[in-house]
Parts: sequence; structure tokens; C-alpha cells
Amino acid sequence: MIVKPGFMIVCHQFNEIQFMEEEMHGITDKPIILWLIAATAVSTISALKTGIHKHKSLDTWFLVTEQSTYVIGATAEGYIANLHWGNRLEKLDDLNATMTDTFFVQNPPPTYVTEELPVFGGLRFRDNVLMVEFPDGVRELNLLYSGKANITDNYLLDLDLRDGNRTDVLVTLHYEIDIENDIIRRSYTIRNGMDKRINVSKAFSAAWHLPTTLGSDEKREIMTLAGEWGSEAMVQSTELRPGVTHVIQSQRGFPSHVSYPYFAIRQVPSDVNPSTEVYFGALAWSGSWEITAHTSLFGTTRVVGGMHHQDFGWSLDPNESFTTPVFAAGFTNKGMPGARKLLPRHVRKYQKKNLATQKDDSVYHPVLYNSWEAMTFDISVDKQLELAEMAAPLGIELFVVDDGWFGARDNDSAGLGDWYVNKKKFPHGMKPLADRVHELGMKFGIWYEPEGVNPNSDLYREHPDWVFYYDARNQLVLNLALPEVQEYLFNSMSSFITDNDVDYIKWDMNRPWGEVSMHNYDRNPREAWTLSVRGFYNIIDKLKEAHPKLWIESCASGGGRMDIGILEKTDQVWTSDNTRPDARIMIQYGASLFLPPRAQYSWVTDSPWDANTNIPLSFRFHVSFMGGLGIGSKINEFTKEQTEEATAWVSLYKQIRPVIQNGDLDWLVQPSRLSELVAVSQTTSRDQSEAVVLGYRHNSPFSTPLNWVRLRNLDKSATYTIKVWGSDPHEAEEEYESTGALLMHRGIMLNSLNSAMFKSVVVWLQRK
Ligand code: DGJ
Repeated sequence: MIVKPGFMIVCHQFNEIQFMEEEMHGITDKPIILWLIAATAVSTISALKTGIHKHKSLDTWFLVTEQSTYVIGATAEGYIANLHWGNRLEKLDDLNATMTDTFFVQNPPPTYVTEELPVFGGLRFRDNVLMVEFPDGVRELNLLYSGKANITDNYLLDLDLRDGNRTDVLVTLHYEIDIENDIIRRSYTIRNGMDKRINVSKAFSAAWHLPTTLGSDEKREIMTLAGEWGSEAMVQSTELRPGVTHVIQSQRGFPSHVSYPYFAIRQVPSDVNPSTEVYFGALAWSGSWEITAHTSLFGTTRVVGGMHHQDFGWSLDPNESFTTPVFAAGFTNKGMPGARKLLPRHVRKYQKKNLATQKDDSVYHPVLYNSWEAMTFDISVDKQLELAEMAAPLGIELFVVDDGWFGARDNDSAGLGDWYVNKKKFPHGMKPLADRVHELGMKFGIWYEPEGVNPNSDLYREHPDWVFYYDARNQLVLNLALPEVQEYLFNSMSSFITDNDVDYIKWDMNRPWGEVSMHNYDRNPREAWTLSVRGFYNIIDKLKEAHPKLWIESCASGGGRMDIGILEKTDQVWTSDNTRPDARIMIQYGASLFLPPRAQYSWVTDSPWDANTNIPLSFRFHVSFMGGLGIGSKINEFTKEQTEEATAWVSLYKQIRPVIQNGDLDWLVQPSRLSELVAVSQTTSRDQSEAVVLGYRHNSPFSTPLNWVRLRNLDKSATYTIKVWGSDPHEAEEEYESTGALLMHRGIMLNSLNSAMFKSVVVWLQRK
């Protein structure tokens, strides 16, 4: 046996030594010493470590995260099947992939195999993920393990599959594990090894297999997010039933408000099964998408998803390849609170990895001011200057000029696409305003809708061939698949950013796509759906590269583009145009399933949405405290008292935002449309040293006191000081101490949430 550098010894049975590719610094060039270590290891190392490991003799791979294990293996025939996904295994068990016996003749084995990449073709009759059309009219694939697998750095696995019928289509399955967050990221690359062009007509990203439920009366529920403009991310739950396929999707060119590319499937606890197992996942794709979940009579569920297959097409010339977006999914045995912790943490981790602006946890998302709700298109340098002068003393850190600053843009029927300053409104350009905002100590932000163009615009008059022609909201959508369109947008935005010292962009997108095609294109015109999203990503990547300090917010008429893919490229999302606080709680509840708290913005406004309801300023602030804070009110019409109150709330927010923005957001009382409208959230720092509880009671028609609310995730042996603010930001209305154990086992009384309408409370806990 040769001891190789970089290998570490892991023993899973007393007399079996296995060498795993794991880093072992310092002793890599000393084989003799290693042998001594091996002798010790034999008796001590038996556990299956986190990372990716291949079984010593079988074609079986173990993807081991902190709390879960995902096992895949090749059958003798070459099918790559999922063998386990769930609680963490202890050893490199001898899990061998075998074909399921034929259950009855109508369902041959490939139908039942838990294939990682079930393609269209062969005797597979369940949901598939990949379909290819060959020049001779054949559309069948049969992808089988080629014998080549590659593990990199203990967290990446590539498995090569070849077409067992034609042997000249190659697919590489990609797996990446996020060990600490129990998440697996999957995608694949398909390569054309033939000498003729082929067409890919469906390219979902992955198939996930949930094991069978335990008994015949066990139930699983699927949780998804539905919505519309102004009512984004509404949580839905429904039971999974055998023989039923649930489909969630967007065919609009962007992820949309109507449904979100997210699912969670949880075991419903019963008298005999206390399980709190949850499988959850999300697509990292900002275009049209689809996720389906089919449940069999045996209680297994197959989830497939990726770019929407409707009107999808991609040409592959000889040797060309295509890589799908990532479909990330995870497992937890800690119920929905566990799922709600892991996915936002995962998204945050990839934000930190990919974005210079997000690397540092101690750089907080700024408190912003944006006059859109207060003024809509009625903006000018004088009015914006007046607001900026008022915003700075409130504690605002970022001043954003929204729609209306460019071209002939007085309403939404003209000017979109003409990205030069409207001289009537800003006679000396944008720089004087940007300079003054900077002098006042704030950052300067500006709104763009780069994909949009009004027919009444210079851009459209010059380049009528740059659009997908389908009129809605008086506007068309630019075809970002065209390199010249990408170039125009990048150049005009980049020079504007440089010339005006822009720190932040709100990237909006306000209409679904239609007539999506490529004209006079010698490849498949359906590529436009995918190319446009890639073009959009390309402009963002280039802007981020050219301006490493630039922050970008993703917005699409509110929260229409807040998939986890865009969150790996931008800093934050605008969750909804609906700023009515009681609606917002419901929206934030749903969005918290996947958004890191810091990425979710919420504004305090005068809110036209609740014109006939008297919602106190304190309630508005407390709702907006849940993530990044913004103000969108007519601050120039604030009374002296309102200005003082707002200033004090902003100041309190800045004190608690390290917890709010970097902590884990959990819900102690979930908001519901049906109950008496109580909701309580708790955001806890990862080291449990601090927590912020936000409590809301919109209404209590029965005047019953609120029950004790038990906190979570605290250090039970520590003592915490607790400060409670109700409607007065200047003074805490309660201050006391309690142990973590008492706070978690008995709970706290939120006395301020009495029977009056729209009462709310901020509780700040700090470990002594
Ligand atoms: C839709 C956005 O969601 C709003 O916040 C605002 O920016 C408008 N567009 C401007 O047209």
C-alpha cells in the first residue's frame, strides 16, 4: 500500500483501512510516520467524516454534511441511483445500487430506479430532467455511468455518464456540498460528442428522491410560496397524495411573484412518528422555471426542477456543452425552523463567496431613503435635495433616486431605455445631487430598469430590432441575448456610475416577457429564453467587476426576482411594493424561508396601501426592523414629533442590526390571516450572545391577553439582560434579567401587545 501525500486514513471497520482524499498538512511527505499514525487510526477513527467519500470497492459515493448524508451509487447496468438522503450515516456502509425488481410488467425497473438524472428515453415513465433531439429524429437517451468520477477538495464530485445507446453524448453530473448547512448543490453539463448538431429540448437541473414515508398512514406536506404583485411569498401547505404531481412554475421569463422556485416537504408528526424531517430546495435561476413533485403509492416522492421546459431549446454543435443552473436542496431533522435557518445561511455563504461587497459581516446594509412611494415620478433636483437634507439627520445612510430621473420620463409611458439625465428635472446633471448626498455623509443610489424600453423612447426609435415585441405597461422588453444590447446597457450604466460616483443601483424589471425569440439566428431561436437571463447575469457581473464597491438591489415590481441565483450576484432584494406593515409581516414570513435577513429590505412609508387604517409609526418601524431598513415616507411633511420618533427608531435599529442582519430569523408565533393577527419573530446571533424579538398584534377582538411566548436557541445557562420598547423609542418600557433556560422553557410575556390595535414591541436580549 502506498501512502500518498494529501491522503488521510479512515477506518470504517477495525481491520479495513481506507485512504481518503482529505487534507493532512505537515506530514504528507513522511510515509513512515504516516504508517504509525495509521496504526493508531485503525483503532480510533471509525466515523464517516464530513466531505465526499467513495466506498472502497463499490461505485458508491457518500456526500456527508454535518447532519445529513446523501448516497448515490451505480447499478451493475450503469444507472446512477440515489441510495439514501436523510439523517447522517456513521460509516461507509456497503450500500450497493441495484435495479429494483419488476413490480409488474407495465412498470419496468428503470421506472422505479431513483435515478439522479432520469432522462427522456428507455423504459422510464416518470418525470424526467433531460431530453435531446438528434438530427435523425430520435429523441431517446440512455445515460449510464462511464466509470469516471472525480472528487475535488472533499466537497465537489463529478460523475461522468455516457449515452449507452450512442456513446457520443456525455453528461457530467456536478455535486457540491455545503457541509455546515446540510445542502447539496446540483447541476450538470451536457456535451455533444457527435459530428452533427443536436438540440436539447429540456434541461432541468436535477432529480431529488425522498425516501418512502414509514407507514401507510404517514403524511407528508409540501410547502410552497404563492403570490401576486403586492402579496408576495404567501406560504401554502398541502398534503402530498399518491399519484398526484404538484407543479410550481413561472413561464414569464423571470422568477415572478406568482410562485417561487422553492419547496419544502415535511413529515407531518403523528402519534407514532414524532419526525420533524424536512427536505427543502431552491433553484438558482432568474428566468422561467418549473419544479414538480410526484408521489408514488409507496410514499416516495421525486422532485425535479430547473429552467422551464416550455419553449426551451438549445443547440449543441459538435463538442459544445451546456451547463444547467444549480438546484440546491437540503435535509434537516429540526423541522421548518431548521430549514429556515439552513437555506438563508447557505445563500449568505454564497453571497460572501461571490460578492466583494458582502465579504465582511461587519459591513451592514445601510438604512436607506427612497422617495418613490411619496413622490412617484414627481422628482427634480430641488425636491430631491430638500429630501436629502432631511434624510441625513434622520440617520439615513443611503439616498436613492427612483424612477423618473432620465429621458422624457414623466410617467411610465415614455423615456425608458434613454439612460441619460432628464435636463428639465436635473439641469446640471446628477452630479450636484450625488455630491451633496455624499457631503451629507450618505451613499448615493439610483434606479434603473435596464431591460425595459418604452416605444416612446429614443432608444426604441433607434433600435426597434433590439426588443421582444409584446406590449404591456406601455413598454417592451429588450432582448438581452443580443451582445450589442448588453454592451449598450453596460457602457451607459458603467459610465453613469463612474461619472456620478454612484454607490448603489436598484435594478428593477416591470413586465413579463412575451414573443421571446431570436430573429435571423442560425441556431435554435428558443435559446433566447436562456440567453437573455445569461445576458442579464453578464451585465451584473461586469458591473460588479468594474465597480467592486457597487451595491445592487434586485427588484421586479417588488419581489418578482428574488430567487437564490440572483442573491449570489446582488446584495439585496426589494421584497414587495406593498409597504402596508400587516401585509408585510406575511410577506416577510414567506420570504424568510430562503432570504438571509440582511438581504430583505422593508420600508417605513405613509403607505397608500393602508390609507384608511391608522397604523402607528412605531408599528411601521418594528415591521421594517426585520431585515434591511428603509424609509419611503414624505419626510418633508413629518411633524417635529414624527421626525424625532423616526430618528430615535433609526438609532435603535443601528444598535440591534448586527443581530438582525447577521443572525438567524425564526418565528415563534407564525402570522396567519385567520387568527387574531399576532406574529412574533426572533433573530438570534450565531453565537447566542444576542437576540431580537419582534412582536406584533394587529388586533385582539376578544381582549384575551397574549400567552407566554417561549424563546429559542439561547444559551440556557447564561443570564440575559432584556430591554423592551413599545411605542416610545426614547425609553425602554421594561428592563430585566433572566436566564436562557427560563426564557426558553417558560418564555416571556409581551405585555405591550394588549388589546389595542397595531401594538408592537422590540425586545433586545444581550448575554451578560
Ligand atoms: C416597481 C418597483 O417595485 C418600485 O419600487 C418602483 O421602483 C417602481 N417600479 C418605479 O417604476
